[in-house]
Amino acid sequence: LRPIQRLFSCPGTVAAEVKREEQSSGSVETGSEDRTPKKKFSEVQKERRDQAQRTVLIHCPTKISEKKFLKYLTQHGPITNHFFYESFGLYAVVEFRQKESVSSLQNATRTPSMGTETAVPFRSRFFSLKTKNPLNPTSIRCSIHSPPSSKKLLELLCYAESIDDQLNTLLKELQLTEENTKLRYLTCSLIEDIAAAYFLGCTVRPFGSSVNSFGKLGCDLDMFLDLDEIGKFSASKTSGNFLMEFQVKNVPSERVATQKILSVIAECLDHFGPGCVGVQRILNARCPLVRFSHQSSGFQCDLTANNRIALKSSELLYIYGALDSRVRALVFSIRCWARAHSLTSSIPGSWITNFSLTMMVIFFLQRRSPPILPTLDYLKTLADAEDKCIIEGHNCTFVRDLNKIKPSGNTETLELLLKEFFEYFGNFAFNKNSINIRQGREQNKPESSPLHIQNPFETSLNISKNVSQSQLQKFVDLARESAWILNQEDKDRPSPSGSQPWGLAALLLPSVMNGVSHAKKVRKKPASERIKNLLESIKSNGSENATSTDRK
Ligand code: GTP
Ligand code: MG
Repeated sequence: LRPIQRLFSCPGTVAAEVKREEQSSGSVETGSEDRTPKKKFSEVQKERRDQAQRTVLIHCPTKISEKKFLKYLTQHGPITNHFFYESFGLYAVVEFRQKESVSSLQNATRTPSMGTETAVPFRSRFFSLKTKNPLNPTSIRCSIHSPPSSKKLLELLCYAESIDDQLNTLLKELQLTEENTKLRYLTCSLIEDIAAAYFLGCTVRPFGSSVNSFGKLGCDLDMFLDLDEIGKFSASKTSGNFLMEFQVKNVPSERVATQKILSVIAECLDHFGPGCVGVQRILNARCPLVRFSHQSSGFQCDLTANNRIALKSSELLYIYGALDSRVRALVFSIRCWARAHSLTSSIPGSWITNFSLTMMVIFFLQRRSPPILPTLDYLKTLADAEDKCIIEGHNCTFVRDLNKIKPSGNTETLELLLKEFFEYFGNFAFNKNSINIRQGREQNKPESSPLHIQNPFETSLNISKNVSQSQLQKFVDLARESAWILNQEDKDRPSPSGSQPWGLAALLLPSVMNGVSHAKKVRKKPASERIKNLLESIKSNGSENATSTDRK
């Protein structure tokens, strides 16, 4: 399913590159003085969800006049936002000011009559536009939804001014764009329409890296079906002696209920879901899920149910990511480094996941002096009554208003932090200690898994239980070598120039794997050869996403 994402959009064209420059310019703060408005996670979710509900997806003919297209649509109401992208054809995402415009458009739309096949009459917000006559087509500017090519990224890193600049450049180039984020929420909203055909009033919410601020262009879209609003017993209204309840069917456990619900939704997506292909039911996993590809948006989707704790984890990561601008820059670089060396993989297995790596970075930043990030226990002490949150008996309470958290006085550079991260974990006593962001200090491992990272909310669980000793050792060896390379560069650093991969770019080279002396030798090779090596390694690594195995 992954290649769908790769075919996305038109990254090679000049228009695309121009657009990329525009999308990235000025969108990332550098240094620790992050001036982005600090909205609550729930506020962002609500705003995005509202937007998505007023939005439609339209498959367009490749030759189209943008002006006439918009004029045609405004007969249903004013449009507040729109953009085009390419993914097996041209698509438009159109956001109306009012929800009513969507119904108006639906009412003016017909179900196609197919030749030999029969259409399943499903009225969604995903349309197909046909034009009778050519309408003076204009050139359409497509937004970019795939990461820049490895070559381009490497070039940018090589021409950066400092290692700090490299880390910020990497973040700027790989982070989700505004438009990609909109498309993610729209996709969830379209899936919600399908699920709501069965469970009226349900919500499909995105979680994971699509919303926690650590998402990279091309990452998967994790979503969960939230039935809480419909299932709430506490909301039942009593009137005098009477209490009315729905007649329902009972099943032996919540897990069975989740499996049955996901199973019917999978059927629906498979048979009637426009644009949904390759539906897989992975219902016996620890966290049952339905995996499918939303072909028209290009997203690989993982739909789960009853997963409120995961949403809470996403909120926590969002808070950590927003507290200090160094956090995201460091996390993106470490994830990219791990991917370049095959420490993470798109195939489930004994590898470290991106989620675990993010936890490790957060823990490391909690251990700095003074700390760059507060502990989860400290965030809990700042919580007020409204922040209180208990999910399935687990205390998930922490302050949700970012503005109540004091910024760190730590002014360390990203360059130093990157080096120290590798040194810290290159020498961490993984054999006896556990990583614990709740307390922000090492703890004795409660069990013998090679890598123990405590689940912040379900504290008896280890989020990296799947990691094998050999994968952990590989991580440690690479961390040590990367620290060594950065230290060497310190001593005899040529002034940064575009001719040789240096700093972060040097750390992404496969040569690191083959030992330090080899790394040194390779560094003397011509830049073109080193860049070629890197490109080959990145290509062979395939796509970015690592799937957590202890969970799925
Ligand atoms: P990507 O690799 O960019 O997709 O990062 P991700 O954070 O979205 O990871 P993934 O898609 O594997 O998982 C989605 C979310 O599920 C994570 O952000 C976590 O909130 C949660 N999650 C992932 N792995 C685990 C795990 O092992 N244990 C628990 N409790 N939650 C997990
Ligand atoms: Mg994910």
